[in-house]
Amino acid sequence: MRVLLTGGAGYIGSHTALVLLENGLDIVVLDNLDNSNPESLRRVEELTGRQAPLIVGDCTDEKTVASVFEQFRPDAVIHFAGLKAVGESVQKPLNYYQNNLDATMTLCRVMPKYDCRVLVFSSSATVYGTNQKMPLREDFPTGCTNPYGWTKWISERILTDVAAADPTRSFVLLRYFNPIGAHESGRIGEDPSGIPNNLMPFICQVASGKLDHLRVFGNDYPTRDGTGERDYIHVMDLAEGHLAALNYAKHHSGVEIFNLGTGTPYSVLDIVSSFEKANGVKIPYEITPRRPGDIAVCYADATRARDLLHWTAQRDLTAMCKDAWNWQKQNPNGY
Ligand code: NAD
Ligand code: UFG
Repeated sequence: MRVLLTGGAGYIGSHTALVLLENGLDIVVLDNLDNSNPESLRRVEELTGRQAPLIVGDCTDEKTVASVFEQFRPDAVIHFAGLKAVGESVQKPLNYYQNNLDATMTLCRVMPKYDCRVLVFSSSATVYGTNQKMPLREDFPTGCTNPYGWTKWISERILTDVAAADPTRSFVLLRYFNPIGAHESGRIGEDPSGIPNNLMPFICQVASGKLDHLRVFGNDYPTRDGTGERDYIHVMDLAEGHLAALNYAKHHSGVEIFNLGTGTPYSVLDIVSSFEKANGVKIPYEITPRRPGDIAVCYADATRARDLLHWTAQRDLTAMCKDAWNWQKQNPNGY
């Protein structure tokens, strides 16, 4: 099977590239390198001994996308390409709508011209909005609280409508929970630019001494210890979920939605103490006010992916913390 990975030089894309290559699939990556470094794919090649060709180009450009299809003739697409910073999406909503929606629509237009009917889409648990009932199930109501989230929500809508209009298409929408960690080799991992927004990369930079201390955003949530709870999932488990999704999509048509999470919530303080224990380092922190827009708790009901994709997350929180730190230690300045 030949798979096009849009945004495949990024964090989740590069780990998925590795899993696909290790399982004998052929890949090509289309990435504009807006938020990534081609070194990630060079290291994927080094780890797998296989080729991970990169075409530097924009997924919103129909000519570029068509030329990739012309050359490579993929059987399937995994569509990771997108802008993903929640705060930035509030400041620059048009950039987010333009980039994320155009990319999705361009693929939908080009794919049938090359008889490519399978697409796996990177959606997010953020489409569950402020749902209070946990664990979150795929059939729960959706809604968003920021432009980034709406681009995922609208992309899901577009893909659902396109698949309804053409019954030969097979689309799988994957709602990721909180991916963290890195490949166990420490050769590929998450490489945020500037000061990280997300918890685990921030903790790693505190551990390395680059940042002074962690700010824990609120300890007055209605949770076990008062800090926010999330469903953290090892990025390698997430990557393997994409292989399962491709196998599923090959043999089905229409649209299916799956949560990719572990189903187990951990608090911010759980993450701090697991990281300290797993790695023997201290993470100084202070409690600060809540971060605007954050919800108290978010975790998946992961039974649908288990039953239909035959996939469940295998790696525990200790592995997530060890692998994140191993990557950070080996690559203190990223790629
Ligand atoms: P990332 O930024 O590391 O990877 C995204 C890649 O897409 C980058 O390499 C970027 O250069 C590329 N890109 C962006 N716009 C492009 C365009 N128009 N044309 C070509 N390439 C383009 O992010 P990631 O964490 O690997 O996330 C991958 C996908 O998963 C994104 O769609 C993101 O929204 C989604 N997602 C991520 C998380 C998370 O916490 N990391 C959670 C839920 C969903
Ligand atoms: N947190 C801190 N201090 C920090 C960073 C985060 O206390 O410096 C807390 C947050 O308040 C939250 C938890 O750590 O309780 C996790 O925060 P992240 O920023 O790591 O992740 P979020 O759950 O806020 O958001 C992530 C992605 C979104 C995605 C969402 C659901 O960043 O893009 O998961 O998939 F939409």
